[in-house]
Amino acid sequence: MSRTPLIAGNWKMNGTIEEAEERVASLLPRIATVEHADVAVCVPFTALQAVVDSTRGSQLGVYAQNMHHEPSGAFTGEVSAPMLTEIDVHGVVLGHSERRQFFGETDKALQLKVPAALEAGLIPILCVGETEDERENGDTERRLRHQVQEGLEKVPAERLGEVVLAYEPIWAIGTGQVATPEQAQDALAFVRALVADRSKEEAEKSRILYGGSMKPGNAAELLALPDCDGGLIGGASLDIEDFVAIVEAAKG
Ligand code: PGA
Repeated sequence: MSRTPLIAGNWKMNGTIEEAEERVASLLPRIATVEHADVAVCVPFTALQAVVDSTRGSQLGVYAQNMHHEPSGAFTGEVSAPMLTEIDVHGVVLGHSERRQFFGETDKALQLKVPAALEAGLIPILCVGETEDERENGDTERRLRHQVQEGLEKVPAERLGEVVLAYEPIWAIGTGQVATPEQAQDALAFVRALVADRSKEEAEKSRILYGGSMKPGNAAELLALPDCDGGLIGGASLDIEDFVAIVEAAKG
């Protein structure tokens, strides 16, 4: 089974509309001929519409960074899947560790968000990963099992392969401390095995990304791992040269 890698830049809370437009204007010509990978940017809510409009007809995917599971209702401050699809957003990052850590995102909430995204026609990127303490205490697999099983619990087996998973060790996010290829491969393969527990066929389709201090200097090695189907890139995605270099590294 050949899986098209996905290289997704997570801009986090960075960029005015003007800055976002400038960033995609520099990025688009640089990825115009890319065929070996899908490329996407995960954009703050306020800039989504502008980025969708300025990338129409291009191969750049535009993703949000969060959503609520209900289509509408009394949920002040939240944005729903139909609100995102209304403006032609393609996908959504769910359960990023910063949301889990700072905003109380729970596995229970993600259990509802992941199927809600799929039903609305959005590609979900479900993020999972262990803390430094969990790794040191030998709890990495237990943590991943819990997060993957809960997050995918309400996804019908035949749609599991549509969910993108991102393995992001929390200790590697924004720290410059990247997982070793062995650590990354073990965790990525473990995540795929967890999907395979529900459906072997779908697990072969699942795209599983690595995230956490991926940079031009380490991307090729990580992206070449047998179970690595792309990257979720934070800091380096804000620098177009670095991001394009990572897209190129996915060529193998
Ligand atoms: P980083 O962030 O590349 O800056 O470590 C990755 C992420 O948070 O998705």
